[in-house]
Amino acid sequence: MSSKLQVGVIGAGRIGKVHAETITFRIPDATVAAVTDPNGTVAEVLAQRCGIPKVYARTEEVFADPAIDAVLICSSTNTHADLITQAAKAGKHIFCEKPVDHTLEKIDAALEAVAQVGVKLQVGFNRRFDSNFARVREAIRSGEIGTPHLLHIISRDPGPPPISYVKVSGGMFLDMTIHDFDMARFLMGEEVTEIYASAAVRVDPEIGKAGDVDTALLVLRFANGTIGTIDNCRQAPYGYDQRVEVLGSKGSIATDNVYPNRAVISTAESVRRDLPLHFFMDRYLDSFEREVREFVEAVTHDRPTPVNGADGRVPVVMALAARKSYLEGRPVRLSEVSQEAHEAMAR
Ligand SMILES: NC(=O)c1ccc[n+]([C@@H]2O[C@H](COP(=O)([O-])OP(=O)(O)OC[C@H]3O[C@@H](n4cnc5c(N)ncnc54)[C@H](O)[C@@H]3O)[C@@H](O)[C@H]2O)c1
Repeated sequence: MSSKLQVGVIGAGRIGKVHAETITFRIPDATVAAVTDPNGTVAEVLAQRCGIPKVYARTEEVFADPAIDAVLICSSTNTHADLITQAAKAGKHIFCEKPVDHTLEKIDAALEAVAQVGVKLQVGFNRRFDSNFARVREAIRSGEIGTPHLLHIISRDPGPPPISYVKVSGGMFLDMTIHDFDMARFLMGEEVTEIYASAAVRVDPEIGKAGDVDTALLVLRFANGTIGTIDNCRQAPYGYDQRVEVLGSKGSIATDNVYPNRAVISTAESVRRDLPLHFFMDRYLDSFEREVREFVEAVTHDRPTPVNGADGRVPVVMALAARKSYLEGRPVRLSEVSQEAHEAMAR
């Protein structure tokens, strides 16, 4: 391995660009050695911007390149599981964007390929690396707020993605709520056993025509008895709304949105402030940097990755349970969706 970790970026869309720029401009221990995307133009533009020396027309060329130590899978979700398997067989360490896949069968095959070769795998649940949420987890873990009773996660996007994205996203629970499912496990340090999901199309009828929902309220039951809610909407007119509150036996902890400044404007008409940071590229930039930095360190120092394959799988089980709950109008136990989840709870 050369002194800098040599990374191949697969997919040069929204998130591929964020990760390639992070490595290029903020992580000195790694470099983007190659990029690939079937849309050659976006790959070329990214290569120019980040000084990436190789632009491959085909993904297989990244896996065949002996100079590449690790890949960042930033392509559309429906490609992730197959690309993980191919990367593992080529002996490349893997960072893969969320979710790993839409089906447990494909996830299990990909995780098996990773386990057989023994390469590192990290899944892109970046919000774990946000300093606000890390503080909430610490307050729960240390007992600072006592025994947790209630958890509330508010997670609303400023606006819906294009319908073309919605169609390959696997639906809101697998695409958007998946972050909140991970956040629930991360904050509580506990597994969820049952989910009840109420959902609707409130923002855009086209999302409904694509077979998806855009607004949901979910109730979670944790193994230790804590009750949680997740409040999702694809559209909040004031911007990205990302808040958490936990009530425990000794007190509560809450995190606010992140604002570009703290100025308060007072006039004869109103007292107001500027809108919160608009979307994930602004709000979570620090967390994207921390997650990729930790991936690079896990590979270069041969340490376990902070978000492993099992952490990638469980939120998919939760999303499938949520979808079943919504379709059947009843609470669904995770064990109805995955035998492994059932066995893990029995242990
Ligand atoms: N962690 C986060 O906060 C976060 C944010 C956004 C997106 N994501 C995830 O990242 C993934 C990509 O999302 P996006 O918003 O960047 O989508 P996007 O549509 O902007 O970009 C995806 C890119 O992947 C390319 N692609 C498709 N198949 C490919 C293949 N086989 N090999 C190489 N490239 C391929 C497409 O041409 C496109 O340029 C999704 O799985 C999404 O869930 C995560």
